[in-house]
Amino acid sequence: MSDHKQDFRRALGRFATGITVVTVAKPGGVHGMTANAFASVSLEPPQILVCVAEKAWARELLHAAGRFGVTILGEDQRTLSDYFAFGPQEPSEGERLGVRFRHSARGTPLLEGGLATLDCRLEAAHVSGDHTIFVGEVEEMSWSDGAPLIYFEGKYRKLGAT
Ligand SMILES: Cc1cc2nc3c(=O)[nH]c(=O)nc-3n(C[C@H](O)[C@H](O)[C@H](O)COP(=O)(O)O)c2cc1C
Repeated sequence: MSDHKQDFRRALGRFATGITVVTVAKPGGVHGMTANAFASVSLEPPQILVCVAEKAWARELLHAAGRFGVTILGEDQRTLSDYFAFGPQEPSEGERLGVRFRHSARGTPLLEGGLATLDCRLEAAHVSGDHTIFVGEVEEMSWSDGAPLIYFEGKYRKLGAT
């Protein structure tokens, strides 16, 4: 990795984020992708963004589906984050981890569990550098109480005592 790339990773790693799994329909199933490049964009109308690498499978699928789901992970779900980032390490891993999807009334696949889920209609896509910024309009949402999974300096963390 070039010095600049490493510096960028180190500097940006100082920004603590949550972890989400972006879900999108694919032929015959559901594709999930771990993403921490997620943010709130607009309150009225409610919009969020997620940045997806140009090399990610999810990118074309998002364009094709025009809808996507976002699930915000809880602190005990780091194995799910790895699963959707690196793929199954053995054939039955999804089953073992209890990976389950449901479909919203509008047909968006959503990962079950987690602290919150957002059912999004694709509103805009902006290519910037080697990523695409997907803006989603949130048409339905749900949430529950619990502690979040945190990502900081390239590691999963739990929220410290407040
Ligand atoms: C903690 C963590 C956060 C990530 N955040 C993002 C992200 O915001 N955007 C992205 O494109 N890839 C991100 N990735 C990498 C993708 O999850 C991974 O490359 C994924 O396999 C690519 O998606 P694909 O299966 O659609 O090709 C992240 C990986 C990890 C472990």
